[in-house]
Amino acid sequence: MKKQNYQWPEYTVGTCYYPEHWDESLWESDLDRMLAAGIRVVRIAEFAWNLTEPEEGVFRFDFFDSFLDLCAEKGMKVIFGTPTATPPAWLTKKYPEVLNADQNSIPYEHGARRHYNYNSPLYREKTRIIVTVLAEHYGKHPAIVGWQIDNEINCETCEFHSEADQAAFRVFLRETYGSLDALNRAWGTRFWNQTYTDWEEIRLPGHVLNKGWNPHQRLDYLRFVSASARGFCKLQADILNQYKKPGDFITTNALFWHIDNPKMFDESLDIFGYDSYPNFAFGLNRSELLKEHGYGIEGDLNDRLSGKSLSEVRGICPHFGILEQQSGAGSWVSGMEGPQPRPGQIRLWAMQSVAHGADFVSFFRWRTCSFGTEMYWHGILDYDGRDNRRLREVAAFASDLGKLAPLCGSDYVAKLAIVKDYDNACDAEIDAWHGRLSFPDENTIYQQAQRSHVSCDYLHLADDSALEDLCRYPVLIYPHPAIMTEARAALLKAYVEQGGTLILGCRTGYKQENGQAVLSPPPGLLRDLTGSIVRESGFQHPAEPTVTVNWDGERFEAPVFQDQLDTEGVATVLARYDSSWFAGTPALIEHRLGAGRCLHWGSVFSRTLLEKLFAYAELTGRFDGLLDAPEAVEIAERKKDGRRFLMLLNYLPEEQKIVLRKEMRDLLEDRFVSGTISLPPFGVLVLEV
Ligand code: GLA
Repeated sequence: MKKQNYQWPEYTVGTCYYPEHWDESLWESDLDRMLAAGIRVVRIAEFAWNLTEPEEGVFRFDFFDSFLDLCAEKGMKVIFGTPTATPPAWLTKKYPEVLNADQNSIPYEHGARRHYNYNSPLYREKTRIIVTVLAEHYGKHPAIVGWQIDNEINCETCEFHSEADQAAFRVFLRETYGSLDALNRAWGTRFWNQTYTDWEEIRLPGHVLNKGWNPHQRLDYLRFVSASARGFCKLQADILNQYKKPGDFITTNALFWHIDNPKMFDESLDIFGYDSYPNFAFGLNRSELLKEHGYGIEGDLNDRLSGKSLSEVRGICPHFGILEQQSGAGSWVSGMEGPQPRPGQIRLWAMQSVAHGADFVSFFRWRTCSFGTEMYWHGILDYDGRDNRRLREVAAFASDLGKLAPLCGSDYVAKLAIVKDYDNACDAEIDAWHGRLSFPDENTIYQQAQRSHVSCDYLHLADDSALEDLCRYPVLIYPHPAIMTEARAALLKAYVEQGGTLILGCRTGYKQENGQAVLSPPPGLLRDLTGSIVRESGFQHPAEPTVTVNWDGERFEAPVFQDQLDTEGVATVLARYDSSWFAGTPALIEHRLGAGRCLHWGSVFSRTLLEKLFAYAELTGRFDGLLDAPEAVEIAERKKDGRRFLMLLNYLPEEQKIVLRKEMRDLLEDRFVSGTISLPPFGVLVLEV
């Protein structure tokens, strides 16, 4: 993990402001009211290209000069956004090659946003110019504290099929493979007569019958999209670095698909930014999708969906910033209808961000826009700008943060990490056999950790990850790493040998880096580590009773898919299947190696199995017996300078009982508490142990 170059020195509250949406006569009172509510930073300008370059090559600075000077006068700090997510109409009309295209190679029209591609030499040049002009002119402005690159890179779409992308894909492949022979081998092009004899024959995986893409080509396509997006981000970061003031930071609001986010952070950012919209989990259009992943309309785990993303962000950058935090009902005019946050939820969700590692929380947005696609994306204020309960809640949150000053910059404490890597995330998307296991399991594991209060991080594994990053956790779960490389296998082995517990699920290690199957018995490169091999494997038919296993006389489900395991004479069988035609076959094998152990489980992870596995791996959520709290309450432990803090978040509209077994200081109320106490609906409790 790269060390972050910037950390907020104190908890800071911000908001997204669009001076271009309002009459200039409102600016001053808006800033005054923000400051009165505890808002110290505004993020601006990320879609406002025209305001600086209204015509090609004609630049004006009066608009943002006036606004920034006013901010400086008021003592308001500013994060300035580069405007490349929304190219001007004059640009796309004159240079249509900058537009992105869909999978059928049909270009997008001007409008909406993010309709450009990263590879058009012309768009890169126009980007270079506008970013240089902005950075040169505003880089030294005293109000500015940081820069946001573009806006939500790879949001709206993460598919790229313009002609510029076609050409760039071929360059990417030449660099990767050097020769067509090597590419043909890596893509297995003998299958279905796909052999390439000229680089110009190669296209992005686009409009084909029945989604019958070549999976190895698609894997490289997703690596190419990541490289393109990261390259575009780096192009801007390199310019900003030349002009920004020392101490100002570069960030972007990230965590979108088809980007290796940790790599983007390493290459270009000083601090990682994230946009947190917990109400997506309650969206009117999302319930069916969410149900499939174990979240329900009534479920108390819906809020943990945003917690899961925050945990992933923390795995990239432990002390991050929230560039957009939900403050009102969300919706575009065309869809995504969502309920409004109930009283208490704005503060609760903002505290969730803080509990997970945000030291900066900026609410989206100051006032709801009265026009455009996002007329229903409610900000703190409504169209009319009256004081309202949402503003009061934001102000209460800002005042609470003042009381939590000692926690700023504290480290999240976790004994368990879920391991992820970009190759396998892509493979799970391309390969239905892989995706059917990986996507639900990631949720099941995170949810079970939440339910049992086992604090859980994400560890993003790459070939160059440092062993010490792994060694921070006594237990790692790497659910289904189908693709395995020698470097990662060596790292995992070293982790186990020094004393770690590594838990692997079915379908581990059966693919090479290019997505082709290994020709030795699975788990391939991990065989030494697991001490096991897979004899046979396959899906269970949904009409058949769920397969079960017997572990120490207890029965557990082994649903969906089963690897029938065998020891290689060096490992111990902990559990065997006790149903189906392969009853009696090993289902869970433990291999002790050096000071640690590897547990190889032959199926996906059911909730009850995880309970047992957590207990077996000595993962408990009791916080040394300090307290007991119901499942509906999330607990985050944070440590700094020898001080230990617990943040408790109640996601339900009913009060929850917490039993404190030791007297602790309640930081928000500034009092000592012990025994049974109640956490109000949507309430937050912060304790110092
Ligand atoms: C995203 C974007 C914002 C806005 C909000 C609400 O996070 O970055 O510009 O669109 O969503 O839709």
